[in-house]
Amino acid sequence: MRAIQISELSGPDALTLVELPEPEASHFLTPGQGVAIDVRAAAVSFPDVLQSRGLYQFKPELPFVPGAEVAGEVVEASDGSGFRPGDRVAALTMLGGMSERAVAPAHLTYRLPDELDFAQGAALVLNYHTAYFALRLRGRVKEGEQVLVHGAAGGVGTATLQVARALGARTVAVVSTEEKERVAREAGADEVVRADEGWKDRVLEVSGGGVDVVIDPVGGDRFIDSLRSLREDGRLVVVGFTGGSIPEVKVNRLLLRNIEVVGAGWGAYAMSKPDLCRELGAEIERMIAAGHVRPIVGARFPLERAADAMRLIDGRGALGKVVLEV
Ligand SMILES: NC(=O)c1ccc[n+]([C@@H]2O[C@H](COP(=O)([O-])OP(=O)(O)OC[C@H]3O[C@@H](n4cnc5c(N)ncnc54)[C@H](OP(=O)(O)O)[C@@H]3O)[C@@H](O)[C@H]2O)c1
Repeated sequence: MRAIQISELSGPDALTLVELPEPEASHFLTPGQGVAIDVRAAAVSFPDVLQSRGLYQFKPELPFVPGAEVAGEVVEASDGSGFRPGDRVAALTMLGGMSERAVAPAHLTYRLPDELDFAQGAALVLNYHTAYFALRLRGRVKEGEQVLVHGAAGGVGTATLQVARALGARTVAVVSTEEKERVAREAGADEVVRADEGWKDRVLEVSGGGVDVVIDPVGGDRFIDSLRSLREDGRLVVVGFTGGSIPEVKVNRLLLRNIEVVGAGWGAYAMSKPDLCRELGAEIERMIAAGHVRPIVGARFPLERAADAMRLIDGRGALGKVVLEV
């Protein structure tokens, strides 16, 4: 099978297309729990770019096949996995997704509803599960609340806008360009504010005095103004640091206005909790059926152009999700 391989940690330039033996379901994790998938679409995400430089928390041994999530058709499923050959699925593979054949654990494999194509399926697990986890389980977002989303035209951002709307929240998106403003609106943002134009004051204005929750995949110098954008009892949910630096907070800011800063690290946390994975999958499935969740795929590349796909994300150019068609 053809696959993308990383054999040195020098970023997107190091990606090469190679021939490798096909993995089998039985080779994966706990025996009886693997699902082998004929990959039709593989996602490329910000963490893949970090991982190509050895900067992500999950550091596989070299050489490795990158790619955390895929969509495709089941070719082989362990007994008891609940899947059969031919099933359309979306799955979190963690590694090995940028390939013609990948293997995922059964509890992170989900039926792909007919409403979504394979490219949308490849955009479904990482970002939408993170969005639900961050909004509902960590941020405790309730119907009628207002949610500010940073990096709102990116993969996590567009997913968060759609899931927040499905939860009955009103959303304010922060984005850096006109094109990203269009994408945030397509993802359902009620208000869009530009990152370079005194965004905090605009947020206070359009939200009528502050939002209830901030979902922050950007960090860096946005952080203090994010705290100032919250109402009393507000929650800032830390999701990532695309802005490059990890912010610090003087906790008197939290005390004075009764606000919280909470972390949302979905991946490693959820992986060892099959029941949570199934619960999140069921919530997202309901949101797809209700028409709220429709992953936005902003760029599609053939497998052999995986390096270009990563460069697009690296250059802050991704709109929605970037996908490799296999
Ligand atoms: N906590 C979790 O469980 C979890 C799960 C998945 C992903 N993540 C993290 O979430 C973050 C976002 O991932 P993603 O896939 O949504 O990435 P993405 O599609 O590339 O979007 C990231 C957004 O960040 C904004 N940004 C601000 N400053 C930036 C900079 N200097 N360079 C690049 N982007 C910048 C950009 O929006 P503007 O240009 O509009 O500002 C961009 O659209 C990453 O840090 C990722 O590791 C966390």
